[in-house]
Amino acid sequence: MPTQPKKTSRIGVLTGGGDCPGINAVIRVVTKAAIMQLGIEVIGIEDGFLGLIRNRMHPLSYDDVSNILTVGGTILGTSNKADPEHFAVGTDDHGKPIFEDVTRRVLEHVRERRIDGLICIGGDGTMSGAARLIEHGIPCIGVPKTIDNDLMHTDITFGFATAVQIATECLDRIHSTASSHHRVMLVELMGRNAGWLTLNAGVASGADIVLIPEIPYELDVVCQMCLERSRRGKRFTLIAVSEGARRKGGKQVVDKIVHDSPDPIRLGGVSTVLAEEISAATHLETRATILGHIQRGGTPVAFDRVLATTFGHKAIQMVALNEWNNVAVRQNGATTMAPIASVAEQQRTVPFDDPLIAMARAVGTCLGD
Ligand code: F6P
Repeated sequence: MPTQPKKTSRIGVLTGGGDCPGINAVIRVVTKAAIMQLGIEVIGIEDGFLGLIRNRMHPLSYDDVSNILTVGGTILGTSNKADPEHFAVGTDDHGKPIFEDVTRRVLEHVRERRIDGLICIGGDGTMSGAARLIEHGIPCIGVPKTIDNDLMHTDITFGFATAVQIATECLDRIHSTASSHHRVMLVELMGRNAGWLTLNAGVASGADIVLIPEIPYELDVVCQMCLERSRRGKRFTLIAVSEGARRKGGKQVVDKIVHDSPDPIRLGGVSTVLAEEISAATHLETRATILGHIQRGGTPVAFDRVLATTFGHKAIQMVALNEWNNVAVRQNGATTMAPIASVAEQQRTVPFDDPLIAMARAVGTCLGD
């Protein structure tokens, strides 16, 4: 049965999954407000759930979190491989990982360190881990982080706005070289199975073709758009393609399998495949650029600094009010909360009736369908 601490005197903070701009802004407000307003101690857990498994953690002081608001990444480190229930403890004779449930170790370390509850900053994987710890009696509060913007029950996650800004700047730069060389230029964006990042950056940069996982594309439609633009004297085409995009009836392009990760599939490479196909079908010159982790790095934009601070502040209010086992969310402009269990193991994808899809079509953007 999920439990709640009677009185909170010490909380742990961890950051799980892929990093993103704004995490340090959350750590900053959580730590400062916990110390100054609630008079409780804060323990920084290193590398997400890995720190709980390996007992790597240290106290965070007010000074430890000063001057980190604008710093990218996470001062605590993170891991997207450390699922306590399915943790790689070594490899067998064939080099395959051997998994064990090490939850007991986590529970012991939390008890030893006298941590009353955890603030878990992360995406769906981290919330799934938190949901399982709640079942084992460790109270948790979630803060929604991901550049993919795909967490259920929140209209936005922090980190997303910065990634959209970075990707848009990259698309703008590719735009100018595309027009000089009269080429079809493909730019591949992250986002896993959700097209939020590509759709937003695609609309912001005025990409001619935007391909997202939620709308499987027809190669012929994409090629016809490139040729049609060429016929109209537009001597280049800019394509924003999501790493999770796939051809109608086809499969997503997988870059690698990370065997010791709870979410082992890493997508990537669709732009290279598609560039070859377009070139073969149209005889237009094509180039592909994969933006990769550049979308996750660097300083957060002002919007994300404010959003991260808002979510972190909400988390501390939830600690004060004993509203454990919920995640801070943004719904219709209001900052509120939802049960952690309801956001675990799920992804929020772009609905077909999303207004941005209609807007993209209204300005003549081809969505590949
Ligand atoms: O979830 C964030 C994200 O950046 C995805 O957009 C991307 O598919 C994945 O993480 C990449 O993971 P890794 O950092 O393991 O390469």
